[in-house]
Amino acid sequence: MPRKIILDVDTGSDDACAIMLAQLHPDIDLAAVCTVKGNQPINYTTENTLRIRDLLHADFPVYKGCSGSLVKNIVYPRIPPTANADAYDEEGNKIHIHQELFDLPESDGRIEELNAPNFYVNYLKNARDRVTIVAVGPLTNLAVALVMEPDIVKNIEEIVIMGGGWNITNATLAAEFNIYDDPEAAQRVLHCGAKITMVPLDATHAAYITQDDCEELKKIGTPASVFAADLIERRIKVHDYAQPLDVKHSCALHDPLCIAYLIDPSVLKNVKYCNVEVSLSGLTEGQTCVDQRAIQENRNVYFAFDGDPKRFSKILIDAFRK
Ligand code: RIB
Ligand code: CA
Repeated sequence: MPRKIILDVDTGSDDACAIMLAQLHPDIDLAAVCTVKGNQPINYTTENTLRIRDLLHADFPVYKGCSGSLVKNIVYPRIPPTANADAYDEEGNKIHIHQELFDLPESDGRIEELNAPNFYVNYLKNARDRVTIVAVGPLTNLAVALVMEPDIVKNIEEIVIMGGGWNITNATLAAEFNIYDDPEAAQRVLHCGAKITMVPLDATHAAYITQDDCEELKKIGTPASVFAADLIERRIKVHDYAQPLDVKHSCALHDPLCIAYLIDPSVLKNVKYCNVEVSLSGLTEGQTCVDQRAIQENRNVYFAFDGDPKRFSKILIDAFRK
């Protein structure tokens, strides 16, 4: 039976690929998509999500979520990110990887009436079967829902989070973007009591996608596969410039790796059950602190330190062939 999931996104180029993989793969039953601010403001992440739904001719419900973080934007001072990840093409034009609206036709704007935290509460309170939540943006929606109704956790099968980093960070010297964007929300979710699998930058950078993979996607020739190839090519250009991986002309495609893990858990490697805490202030704000001592208390997260690029690209490309 396909695994039922709710996907929480801040679409975004890799979020877009995660939606496509979840919608196209027969092992996944995409029950709903919630949006959150993150890569872009909430109106853009929502509109981008709707445009991807149209591209796929899909009909999953979309719930618009939180437009700001729980605490950080009202507390002074919080550290702004310092990395300059802008890259430019040969003509000097900036390459966007989380570009607003993606050049796809405008959507009809059809979203559900409930906002995302209310949807979580309502859906999970009434769910007959437990559901998996895949959160690939800041964790604000889920944190708000868990504050409103902590009991909903009993109907959560697993929470799979794209976020965090052990050896690799991207928002600051210490933090990954999704966790840095709303550290208090992340800390709340990590301690909710559900089974949590964390897919950090260490895993997503290891499970890179290459230019050759893009060529395969283009050959499939569907509007979705060609669009995915275009998004990934932009990511490769930005990675080559700002975050070069060991393999040249490759990129991390963070968010779909969480979906791939549900299809084949062995795509994540070196997964350890550890205590993970989020730093909430100072130079390390948003850092995921991972306890790796042999004897430790409060283990709460399955943290993936590595990933398998071959398995990941096969899962991704095969899904577009189906
Ligand atoms: O750090 C990677 C995460 O932040 C991904 O979810 C991606 O969409 C980016 O914005
Ligand atoms: Ca994302």
